[in-house]
Amino acid sequence: MSESSNFKMKIAIIYSTKHGCADKCAHTLANEIETNTALINLEFSTDANLAEFDTIIIGGSIHAGMINKKVKKFIEKNQEKLLTKKLGLFLCCLFEGEKALQQFQDAYPEDIRNKAIAHGLFGGELDFEKMNFFEKAIVKKVANIEQSTSRINYSNIKDFALKILN
Ligand SMILES: Cc1cc2nc3c(=O)[nH]c(=O)nc-3n(C[C@H](O)[C@H](O)[C@H](O)COP(=O)(O)O)c2cc1C
Repeated sequence: MSESSNFKMKIAIIYSTKHGCADKCAHTLANEIETNTALINLEFSTDANLAEFDTIIIGGSIHAGMINKKVKKFIEKNQEKLLTKKLGLFLCCLFEGEKALQQFQDAYPEDIRNKAIAHGLFGGELDFEKMNFFEKAIVKKVANIEQSTSRINYSNIKDFALKILN
């Protein structure tokens, strides 16, 4: 067996979620990648040892136009190290097209976006059981949605995994 075929990529998916969609997408992506992949939820661990990984995927979700604060802080704290890695970035949100692209651009700093080999818009989900009164009111007003809805884009998750593995 050649040296290169022994080589195993070490991948971390580091993410934050409010109601579980980014968590679901992170797990789906890890299954697609089918290799040595660590799932790190920033809710429980913010000090991952990045030196252990050669590929880092960062993911979060949009609420009222903003990405999760924990993702923002993680990138700020680790920006230099992240720029030395193979990088991927994904976002969960319900807007599509230009609005989603704009949210992606606002969520991640330019140098991190430029370094990333995969950008993923994975769609979104609304889980009314997990939303409070105000969140339900906002969603109803802005998106005119009144019940739990799933619009996860599984094909974008598959395409993203292929880019990471290439
Ligand atoms: C209160 C609230 C505000 C939201 N604001 C936006 C928004 O500004 N843009 C958008 O595209 N999606 C918005 N969404 C949809 C979320 O991005 C979507 O539900 C996503 O799947 C949430 O991911 P999470 O479960 O990982 O937190 C909002 C959802 C809620 C509940």
